[in-house]
Amino acid sequence: MEEAAQAQGMGIKPLIRVLQGQREEIPPIWMMRQAGRYLPEYRQVREKAGGFLNLCFNPELAAEVTLQPVRRFGFDAAILFSDILILPLALGRKVEFLAGEGPKLEPMLDADALKGMRDNADSDVLAPIYATVRRVKAELDHKTALIGFCGAPWTVATYMVAGEATGDQAPARYFAYRDPENFARLIDRLVRGSIDYLVGQLKAGADCVQIFDTWAGVLPPEQFDRWCIQPTQKIVQGVRAQVPGAKIIGFPRGAGAMALPYAELTGVDGLGLDWMFPRSLARDILQPHVAVQGNVDPLALLAGGAALDREVDDVMTLADGPLIFNLGHGILPATPIEHVERMLKRVRGN
Ligand code: CP3
Repeated sequence: MEEAAQAQGMGIKPLIRVLQGQREEIPPIWMMRQAGRYLPEYRQVREKAGGFLNLCFNPELAAEVTLQPVRRFGFDAAILFSDILILPLALGRKVEFLAGEGPKLEPMLDADALKGMRDNADSDVLAPIYATVRRVKAELDHKTALIGFCGAPWTVATYMVAGEATGDQAPARYFAYRDPENFARLIDRLVRGSIDYLVGQLKAGADCVQIFDTWAGVLPPEQFDRWCIQPTQKIVQGVRAQVPGAKIIGFPRGAGAMALPYAELTGVDGLGLDWMFPRSLARDILQPHVAVQGNVDPLALLAGGAALDREVDDVMTLADGPLIFNLGHGILPATPIEHVERMLKRVRGN
């Protein structure tokens, strides 16, 4: 019996074991935005694809860039190459990525704009993304996890309302105060679309999924509960109703004091910590409830040297509990590859 259980445990990928609450001697490691412009091989494929969205919708090339960082660094996970703004596209909104400027969408400043949106995501738009998942899955070894993802409804809504990145997300916050009923309709549609999208990725072979709530930190507590915790809880429950036991990581960037209620109420298995989150608190109040993931400051990785070493060692104080080693947000495009190698060496001790 014990042997069988052990053998079964061995068959589970290290990142998934951590999401089950176990501790690994050397924590599994991946980086947010690990496929991207800091890699010359990414820039080459990106150029060939001609445009970011063309790359996202080309399963062969998207699978290639998903695998590049895994091949180069031996990460414990691949993250699907796509974007959180694919969902608004599948809901019938216009989405563009302008070189050097980031995303541009048709703004949705009032209830009327909701009329131009589908009730459910167009499965034809999402089909190539699932094809990428299947291709990547076929290439990965038995130890390397494949992470699918979506944006959290609040974060996706901030881009849909403003039409672009704004910093403080004032347009979406204002909409939510002024017209909470219609804002809730927008959020509910994103909840439904996100459930379908994540279930599609899990059925295509993703081992777990991450919900990116990059702009969670701009919300005061009551609004955080309504627009961040509750929709995420609905997604977690909706996904698990169709894929029992689905493993889910939440990344509510900037949650601060709301991190524990977020973890407990949403039911995520792993909590992605931003670089600002105090590690002693993560150890004392979060790790007893959930696995944590994080949280090297991307600027320390850019700086390298002693600053990076100190940051890595401090994150490793979390390795006595369930830890997935990662950054506290996406890797910056100017980051030297040697700094990533230095970080990996320090974590793995080789
Ligand atoms: O490697 C990975 O992490 C997987 C792919 C991935 C991308 N975007 C590719 C991408 C993932 C998981 C995302 C998530 C995403 N997209 C988030 C949440 C996480 C975060 O970083 O905050 C957000 C807010 C977006 C929306 C988005 N996409 C913005 C604001 C931008 C422009 C800023 C930028 O970094 O250029 C993008 C573009 C984008 N998404 C790029 C990549 C590799 C750069 C596009 C390029 O190659 O020119």
